[in-house]
Amino acid sequence: MSKTINFNVPPYVGTEMDYVREAAEANRKICGDGPFTKRCSAWLEECFGTPKALLTTSGTTALEMASILCELEPGDEVILPSFTFSTTATAFVLAGAKLVFVDIRPDTMNLDEKKIEDAITERTRVIVPVHYAGVGCEMDAILDIARRHNLKVVEDAAQGVMSTYKGRPLGTMGDFGCYSFHETKNYSMGEGGAIMVNDPACVERAEIIREKGTNRARFFRGQVDKYTWVDYGSSYLPSDMNAAYLWAQLQEADAINNDRLATWNAYYQAFEPLAQVGRVQLPYVPEECEHNAHMFYLVCDSLAQRTALIDFMKARDIYPAFHYIPLHSSPAGQRFGRFHGKDEWTTSISERLVRLPLYYGLTAEDRQAVIDAVLAFYAQEDEARG
Ligand SMILES: Cc1ncc(COP(=O)(O)O)c(C=O)c1O
Repeated sequence: MSKTINFNVPPYVGTEMDYVREAAEANRKICGDGPFTKRCSAWLEECFGTPKALLTTSGTTALEMASILCELEPGDEVILPSFTFSTTATAFVLAGAKLVFVDIRPDTMNLDEKKIEDAITERTRVIVPVHYAGVGCEMDAILDIARRHNLKVVEDAAQGVMSTYKGRPLGTMGDFGCYSFHETKNYSMGEGGAIMVNDPACVERAEIIREKGTNRARFFRGQVDKYTWVDYGSSYLPSDMNAAYLWAQLQEADAINNDRLATWNAYYQAFEPLAQVGRVQLPYVPEECEHNAHMFYLVCDSLAQRTALIDFMKARDIYPAFHYIPLHSSPAGQRFGRFHGKDEWTTSISERLVRLPLYYGLTAEDRQAVIDAVLAFYAQEDEARG
């Protein structure tokens, strides 16, 4: 019987439980902002270079914090891709914003920077580039548009931890950058995330929003003698036990990155001949981008071919996965937004893209089984075609 190869296995480096135990038994500090949270924040600030990195309970709540910090009024417009996760959108819908979906590029699946400007109206306030698969959007063009139209930029870098664009870490170029540490991401604390507050003027308000609307952070720094409710806010800080779990993985960040890249490169090499004869489209990484191997996908010729490929692999106990259903075609997307311009690629790519198993610790043997299955599928197709 063949061995099951799942799409994802959460990263685990082996020291996680030592740190969780330390938080619970030695530190006796399991609420938010304990020693492990501080270590993770400092690591993100030092490695990636931002004035303030704040851990959150998810990538979703990091986006919600960013949305609050953008100070939107009901009816303000936010430009984002439709080919993304629901919470890229919900974070702004909660603030009463209207969503304006713009098409993606067919090579990186990122927001098409050339189609953004046409979607801007007098109500536009924010652009949300989503760095799909941990490959950077064309940030220079996007930041230039934002500057000229006085718009905020919130980078959805949920998948982009450890990736760069022109040497700059994803998540550090917009006003705010949002990371996810969900178990499906390269680095994980189960559920968790972080907001990179790249605008120093917003740091204090970000701390207040995250801490239930209070100025507790200032109190702990000795800047006020008691803390009180000063602004809008909620509870966005994770337990220090979760941060302890994440800390183990941040310490092994390079090892995790290299391990994932090895699988990504092996897939790329194995499928390049198929791409060269036009049988399948492979991920494209622009020269100015360094990626984190968050994802390896194939773009098939048609929905029918993708369904056949997935079924073929499942029959071998290998579980690839398709991805987002375009938000503009979903019930909530239709209610809260509109697609600007022509949907040239969003729906078409969404129907044809399939993600292969890729996780830290995927063995060479399992990786080869995935490769063999894909190649066998296309060989079988060739045979059927004669
Ligand atoms: C592009 C994108 N944005 C936001 C999120 C939300 O992150 P989380 O699951 O940590 O809330 C995800 C996670 O799947 C994502 O892929």
